[in-house]
Amino acid sequence: MPSGFEACDDGTIVRVDAAACAPIDPSDYTVDPNCAESELSTCSSHEDCTEGVGICTGSGSYESPCACRYSCETDADCSGNSICMCALDIEFGGSMGRCIPADCSTNADCEDGFACAMARFDAGCGMEYSMACQTPQDSCVTNDDCVGDVETGGCAPNDETGVWECIDYTCSIGRPFTVAGEIVAASTKGRRDWVSASAGVDAWGSIVAQVEPMSAADRRALRDYWLRNATMEHASVASFARFVMQLMHLGAPPSLLQSATEAMQDEIDHAQRCFALASRYGGESLGPDRLPLGDALGDTSWLAIMEAVIVEACIGETLAALEAGVALEHAQDAEVRETLAVIARDESRHAALGWQTLRWALSGADGKTRAALRARFEAAVARARQDALRGASRTGAESSLEAHGKLSSTRRCRLVVDGLEEVVAPVAASLWQAA
Ligand SMILES: [Fe+2]
Ligand SMILES: [Fe+2]
Repeated sequence: MPSGFEACDDGTIVRVDAAACAPIDPSDYTVDPNCAESELSTCSSHEDCTEGVGICTGSGSYESPCACRYSCETDADCSGNSICMCALDIEFGGSMGRCIPADCSTNADCEDGFACAMARFDAGCGMEYSMACQTPQDSCVTNDDCVGDVETGGCAPNDETGVWECIDYTCSIGRPFTVAGEIVAASTKGRRDWVSASAGVDAWGSIVAQVEPMSAADRRALRDYWLRNATMEHASVASFARFVMQLMHLGAPPSLLQSATEAMQDEIDHAQRCFALASRYGGESLGPDRLPLGDALGDTSWLAIMEAVIVEACIGETLAALEAGVALEHAQDAEVRETLAVIARDESRHAALGWQTLRWALSGADGKTRAALRARFEAAVARARQDALRGASRTGAESSLEAHGKLSSTRRCRLVVDGLEEVVAPVAASLWQAA
């Protein structure tokens, strides 16, 4: 059955027409018996998957709890800007159709001579697929064009310009703002009010200091790096705003609310400092666009709120504090050093607030609830570890940009693995014991 997707000689996968994918038969897929046993699973048989044609898949283990995965047959089965990627004979392609983000549907949507091509890249948080038109300005065509550069996770279109380039292998850490399991952050635009008055930028956000001479590529890499940190810090403000509401919903004491609102102020400061650095390296004042909220409050059950505390604070901010500390050891630029010192200090305090909240919540929980939360905690640590191990296994030259705060991917991934083992796990162990 034709899928509409075609592989070119150079390895590019393009979409020539929007054909329907072969339908799947759930009975071809066996369900792991552990699915029914595991507390983390959200299904135990295919019959539990009622939102379309789907299968219950996973091994039921911490690393892979069972969940429904739905297949698609045509683009009409996918919402918004996404299309149905048929089961393809490519690495990690999967054995059933799935919806992937797309800026184009077929080659006909693109300029003459340019295809609607598939990007397959791993920015450190798992394999991602998307479709976009190739452009005359592209600096790469396939992932092979990016091999040899340890900092890249593949050839993909730039979010802002749409031009295909070798993208950074770096999955931001810090307190993420998650909505329905996805990390959410604002996109960026030129504006001055989010740029803090610092050594390189005046009170109105204009660039007054130049960075030392460096290549255009390095400057761009540093601008992008600090911009990503800036949008993550900016999203942390929303994460804390939600956290305050969640704490109130759980009947928390005033001391926790006080610390949470203070932390929100810290995150505004972090965002402004990072936007200032991005603006200085980029040579223009940059700030956030509107933050998408979606269903940000989501599940307000005790377990869901505590899971967010674990992922965002206990793991996210503990690792962010460690990363800022290690980056500070290698940084030389004065403004970068000051920013990293402030972030390292504040993030440790935010991580402590996360652990404190967990301790307070556990003190009122029964044995069964504690066990359920512990299972979610261990699953979250396993996921973070797996992502980091994949990155740490890539070896290569150290980043030449560490003087400007950007750690090499391998150092960063190793730091995550060590931090989970040496800091997160022991703190958690003492907490479960005390509870
Ligand atoms: Fe922060
Ligand atoms: Fe933080």
